Order: sequence, then C-alpha cells, then structure tokens
Amino acid sequence: MENFVLQMPVPYYFGRGQTVQLDPVLSSYQRVLLVYGGGSIRRNGIYDDVLRHCHGVLTEFSGIESNPSIETVARGVEAARSSESDVIVAVGAGSVIDCAKAIAAGVYWEGDLWEMVTHAGEIQRALPLIAIPTAAATGSEFNSTSVISNAKLVLKKGFSHPLLYPIACIADPSYTFSVPARQTRAGAADTMSHILEDYFKPGFDALIADGIAEVLLRTVMASLEKVLAKPDDYDARADLLYASDIGIKSLTAYGKKGTWSCHSISHALTAHYGVNHGESLAVITPFWMEQVLNDATVRRFDQFARNVFALSDPDPMTNARAGIDALRSFWKKAGLPVSLHELGIVNQEGLSNIAMELHETRDYSSAFMDLSLSDLETILRRAW
Ligand code: NZQ
Ligand code: ZN
Repeated sequence: MENFVLQMPVPYYFGRGQTVQLDPVLSSYQRVLLVYGGGSIRRNGIYDDVLRHCHGVLTEFSGIESNPSIETVARGVEAARSSESDVIVAVGAGSVIDCAKAIAAGVYWEGDLWEMVTHAGEIQRALPLIAIPTAAATGSEFNSTSVISNAKLVLKKGFSHPLLYPIACIADPSYTFSVPARQTRAGAADTMSHILEDYFKPGFDALIADGIAEVLLRTVMASLEKVLAKPDDYDARADLLYASDIGIKSLTAYGKKGTWSCHSISHALTAHYGVNHGESLAVITPFWMEQVLNDATVRRFDQFARNVFALSDPDPMTNARAGIDALRSFWKKAGLPVSLHELGIVNQEGLSNIAMELHETRDYSSAFMDLSLSDLETILRRAW
C-alpha cells in the first residue's frame, strides 16, 4: 500500500434541518456574500431556509452558470470586494461551489484571475467559505478543488489549494429532492466516475480503498434507481449525497497512486462542445475501459465485475467484458447517453484535435494505463 496522509479538514453537518448550524458557524462574521446559481434555490424554498440563518449584512451574487467562466468569477470577486464581505455562503451544485472557491481566493489575488487558476500554488489568502450543496454530484463542498472555464482559451481547468477547503459543509439531503431527473442521473454518473477513477489505479494492495469504492458504487446505483422512481426518497437522496462527498475525498484513493484518465477527456469535451460533465463521463468511461482492458489489466476489471455487478464467469476476460457492458447498460437504463453524438456532438471532425490537445498537455504515464495519441483517438472515435 502506498504511503498517505489522511486529512478530513471540512466539518461536515449532514442531515435534515442542519442549516441551523449556520448560526454558530456564521457568528464570528459580519458581512455575508450569499452566492448561488440560476434561481432553483428561490423556487424550491432553500433560499428562504438559508436566509433565516444568515445574520449580519447580506450581499447576493447569483446567476452562476454550469461550468462557471472566469468572467463570472471576476464579477463575483468584484461583488465580494465592493461589499467588503468577510465570509461566503455558497448554496448550489458543483458549479456554484467551485465558482465561490475561485471568488474566495480571487478577492486577494492581484492581477489576472486566470493566472490564479493556472498558478494555484501561489494563492496566499482566501475568504472563508461555507458550502451548502443542493445536488449530489461533484463533492466540491467537501474538497479544495475548483474547476473554471475559459472560453477564449477553450479550456476548462481544475485547481486546488488547502485554503479552498470550506470551513463548513452543511449537507441536507432534502435540499436535493427537487434536482431534475437529468441532473440527478448526471450527478450520479459523476460520483461513480470519481470512485472509478480511483478504483482503476495501479496496484492491488489497497484493499480498504477498494472495498469502500465497491460499496459506494453499488449504493449509488441502487439509490439512483430509487430516486428516479421517487424523487423525495430521503434515504436514497441521503446516500447519493454522502457518497458524492466520500467519493471525492479520496477515501477510495488512500493507499493508491496515479492520475485520473476520463475526467481530463470530459473537461476537454466540455471546453470544446459545452457538454454536461456527468453525462460525458457516462459516455467516455466504458470506452476508456474497453481501450485499457488487456492481459495486464484484466484482473482489476474481473474484480470490478465480481464485486460491483456480482458477475461470475470463470474466464476473467469474459467476466471483465461483461462488467464493462453491465456498467454501460446500467447507465443507459438510467437514461444517460452512451455516445457523443447523443450529447449533441454532431460530427467527428474535431475529435482528433481534442486527442492531440490531450496528448500534448496531459501526462497519463502514472495512470492505470498510459494513453497514447492513438488510444485517445480510438476512445473518442468509438465513443462518437
Ligand atoms: O443554477 P441553478 O438554478 O441552481 O440550477 C442548477 C443547475 O442547473 C440545478 N440544481 C442544483 N440543485 C438543484 C437544482 N435544480 C433544482 N433543485 C435543486 N436542488 O442543477 C444544475 C447543476 O449544475 P452544475 O452545478 O453545473 O452541476 P454539477 O454539480 O454537476 O457541477 C458541475 C461542475 O463541477 C465541476 C464540473 O467540471 C462542472 O464544471 N466539477 C468539480 C469538481 C470539484 N470541485 O472537485 C470535480 C468534478 O469532477 C467536476 O469537474
Ligand atoms: Zn467529476
């Protein structure tokens, strides 16, 4: 097992009614910047619930879009500076919380904000941030990562810094009841992808990480089916939300090493075509799996098929293939897209350029399997 440092720096208040925890958490601050997205929190009552516990001077910054842009971050920084806010409360899904993190650091960043994204190690200060997730997907509320898009450069980039950990996360599963089916599915696929990216890392001796991953994957799949049938199934929504946070916080990675593969492909597809993050992962992941399945990797895929889908063909390669098929079929049955053209990418012309861009800018040498230019092209072409 690889060495690791276990850190869980975000106090995590989970469950119905936990928004009352805003009272003590906010008690030492005077000026709150309330940050949210396109307005779902106003329609479903979360806004009123949160406002009851926001004391002091309140400024709002709303309208944060999916895949938040660097321009939106800049507007948020301006709102935080002009209101002299001393704390940010972010209420929303991954894009809102990611944008709030960038605003938190951007307030103290002198110079070009995109430089902050690309030189995150130089961040020295950030406003404290309280994260209140309203959807289960990215786990952004529980980590120190933010993903920001730059349309001019056609880039989507993640950056992390310890100062971006929320000082508290308040996760009430009932806030996720109103998430539309499409976003619920995409969020579950994203959560599963985070877990899979860690599961498919080199090595076979991180048994605890693997076991946690397998139970999380089975739980997310069972819970997704339940909430699609009954959106206000509290326990199933609770499992999806908790899994999204545990899934991102490396419990599934402790003891392992190596980079992720599918997320970089998804980010490039979003930067070029604006596709939904979770949906693109549902498309790409099975094709990536098929591309890297070989005699050297079959053992891991066989384990995945056995422990996640209870498949038991005695031939490991047959079982491995059946496991990949089972994953794709599960996502398809849940209503997720299984090809890039279903995502609205109308032709294959740009895919070679994306493969080249990934080949030139990403290093997959420590991933589960190194990806050559030809591997990347094949994955994207087959996924189309
Ligand atoms: O904007 P509003 O009106 O709030 O509507 C949102 C939005 O349309 C809606 N929604 C959220 N909660 C709702 C709700 N609608 C009704 N009821 C509720 N309770 O759902 C949509 C959510 O969109 P978005 O925030 O974009 O989705 P998601 O949570 O999937 O976040 C995706 C972004 O996170 C990044 C992705 O790249 C993408 O930019 N990621 C961040 C990560 C991180 N910080 O660690 C890791 C991930 O891998 C990912 O890259
Ligand atoms: Zn993701």
